[in-house]
Amino acid sequence: MSLIAEIEPLKQTALGELKSAPDSAALEQTKGAWLGPHGKFTALMKQLGALSREEKPAAGKAINAAKIELEAALAARREELELAAALPKEPTDFTLPGRRRPIGKLHPLTQVTHDIVSAFRKIGFAVADGPEIEDEYHCFDALNTPADHPARDAQDTFYLQPDSKLKTQSSKWLLRTHTSSVQIRVMKSQPPPVRIIVPGRVYRRDNADATHNPTFHQIEGLYVDKDVTVGDLKGTVEFVFKQLLGAETKIRFRPHYFSYTEPSYEIDFSNALVKKLGKEWLEIAGCGMVHPQVFENVGYDPNLWSGWAFGFGIERIAMLRYGINDIRLFYENDVRFLKQF
Ligand code: DAH
Repeated sequence: MSLIAEIEPLKQTALGELKSAPDSAALEQTKGAWLGPHGKFTALMKQLGALSREEKPAAGKAINAAKIELEAALAARREELELAAALPKEPTDFTLPGRRRPIGKLHPLTQVTHDIVSAFRKIGFAVADGPEIEDEYHCFDALNTPADHPARDAQDTFYLQPDSKLKTQSSKWLLRTHTSSVQIRVMKSQPPPVRIIVPGRVYRRDNADATHNPTFHQIEGLYVDKDVTVGDLKGTVEFVFKQLLGAETKIRFRPHYFSYTEPSYEIDFSNALVKKLGKEWLEIAGCGMVHPQVFENVGYDPNLWSGWAFGFGIERIAMLRYGINDIRLFYENDVRFLKQF
């Protein structure tokens, strides 16, 4: 039989064996038997050399085509067997319920922040933000806070190493101690009127204990327009705290001092939560009418514009609302704690 006539039957046998190999080990063995160095098909190729010049091209072409077919069959069977190996051995019951992945939820501080923000959005306030790495100008000077104010002491505030590359740096960098710095940034970037709230992270050099943490969160509010009064401030604060802490919540203003407001007040509130703690009132926020000097500093005319500002701690509200007695729990990321809210 001529070589070329041998190719087809040999190929058919090889294809049959490859396609029916029961597992990968058998398949690899079949591959060796046909296409390996001592394989039957390889042997056929070796005989090419003995053919005449006339016979060689046609036989070579036929052998190559057959080899490509065998290799394709080998790859296809390999894939089939791999797929079969990956399938479960037991029959699958597709009616079984799926495995549920636990869905995370928002951190309690984020939930409280969202509630505060949505209360303020109802009365037309927009959310603003500013950098946590601030300079002394925005954090203190522009807010009329004198150089000898204790908040500026290195004992109370995190100062950053001066950057030698910033040769003209006139004001020291620090981690902002309150969100009030954003009042300045917003007023400098837009003309009045202003109606913003600023939720954000702030920093103080406090040792962590049940009620203090070097990092915590505040919400700042700022309202600037014509003929704004303390009555507007009180009405707004009352609306928001009733939304947050329940309709029966009462608030009261006590005179206080902040350098960026005049007059200034501390806000106390009272409701069932406070009574449960055995108290009548609990201090919750600082506020006041924006100091004319602050308006001068940002280029607003204090004879034309008036406004109020307030600031309070978000942790404080969340602790009261959820009955949490240690502020550090918020930052430990213990799922057993976080799951409860
Ligand atoms: N910045 C103050 C603090 O961190 C809170 C505060 C008081 C903010 C009075 C204000 C304000 O905007 O008017 O304790």
